[in-house]
Amino acid sequence: MTLSSSLSLLGRTALVTGASSGIGRAIALAFASSGAAVAINHLGHAQDAAQLVAEIEAAGGRAVAIEADVSQAAAVQGLQQQAVKALGPTHILVNNAGIIQEKPFLQTSEADWDRMLGTDLKSVFLMCRAFLPAMVSAQSGVVINIASELGILGRAQFAPYCTAKAGVIGLTRSLAREFAPHIRVNAIAPGPVNTAMLDAEHMSPEWRAKEMDIPMQRFGEPDEIAATALFLASDMARFYCGQVLGPNGGALMT
Ligand SMILES: NC(=O)c1ccc[n+]([C@@H]2O[C@H](COP(=O)([O-])OP(=O)(O)OC[C@H]3O[C@@H](n4cnc5c(N)ncnc54)[C@H](O)[C@@H]3O)[C@@H](O)[C@H]2O)c1
Repeated sequence: MTLSSSLSLLGRTALVTGASSGIGRAIALAFASSGAAVAINHLGHAQDAAQLVAEIEAAGGRAVAIEADVSQAAAVQGLQQQAVKALGPTHILVNNAGIIQEKPFLQTSEADWDRMLGTDLKSVFLMCRAFLPAMVSAQSGVVINIASELGILGRAQFAPYCTAKAGVIGLTRSLAREFAPHIRVNAIAPGPVNTAMLDAEHMSPEWRAKEMDIPMQRFGEPDEIAATALFLASDMARFYCGQVLGPNGGALMT
C-alpha cells in the first residue's frame, strides 16, 4: 500500500447521518473527494442536502439525499433500503446526526431526556442494527460514530448530551469487540467545532467562552473533524478497532 493511494475510497459507498450541515457535511465532501459515493441523510433540510448533492456531482462525484429521522426505527429501516437502492451496499456508515441542549439538570424533563437520548444515542443503535447485517454478510465494513469530548469530561447543564455521548463511546467499544476482525467500529470525540450546534440558540455566551479556554485557543473547523473521519474510513486505519480519536485542540489529553 502506498501512502498516496491509501486514503482513497474509490469503489466504496458511504452513508453520513445529519449530513446537510456542519461536521456531517464536511465528512460527506471529504469522502466524495476521495472517491466514495455518498448517501446524505438529513431531517427537514431538503434544500441544503440537494445543494450538497449538486456540489458533489459538479465535482464528478456521486451522491444522493435521503430524508429520515434517525431516532425512529421505521425511518431508519427505510433509510437503509433507500440507500442500497440508490447506491448499492453501504461500506462506510457515519453516525453523525445529533442535537444539544443547555439546561440545568433539575429543570430537565423526561421529554428532554428522551429527545436527547433518542437522537444522540438510540439513533446509533438503530443505525448499526439496520446496517451491520449486510456488512456481516460481506465480511467487511466501517462504522464511525461521532461522540464528543463532553462524553468523557461531562459538563454542568448538559447532562443528557454528555450521557448520550458517553453511551456512544460504550456502544462503539462493544460493537468493535463483537464485530472485529472484519468490521471496524471506531469513534471520534471532537472538541468544540464551529457549527450551528454552538450557536447562541443552543449554548449561552458563558459556555461558549469556557469552550474557547483550550490550548489551541480556537474552535475547530468541520473539515478538521472530517480529516479524522476520512482517515478512519480508509485502509490507512486498518488496525484501528474500538478507538476514540480526539481532534479537540488539546481540550482533553488522554
Ligand atoms: N460542534 C461541536 O462543537 C461538536 C463537538 C463535539 C461533537 N459534535 C457532534 O458532531 C455531530 C454533528 O454536529 P454539528 O456540530 O455538525 O452540528 P449541526 O447541527 O450542524 O449538525 C447536526 C445535524 O444532525 C441533524 N439531525 C438532528 N437530529 C436528527 C435526526 N433525528 N435525524 C437525522 N438528522 C438529524 C441536524 O439536522 C443537523 O444537520 C453531532 O453528533 C454533535 O453532537 C459537535
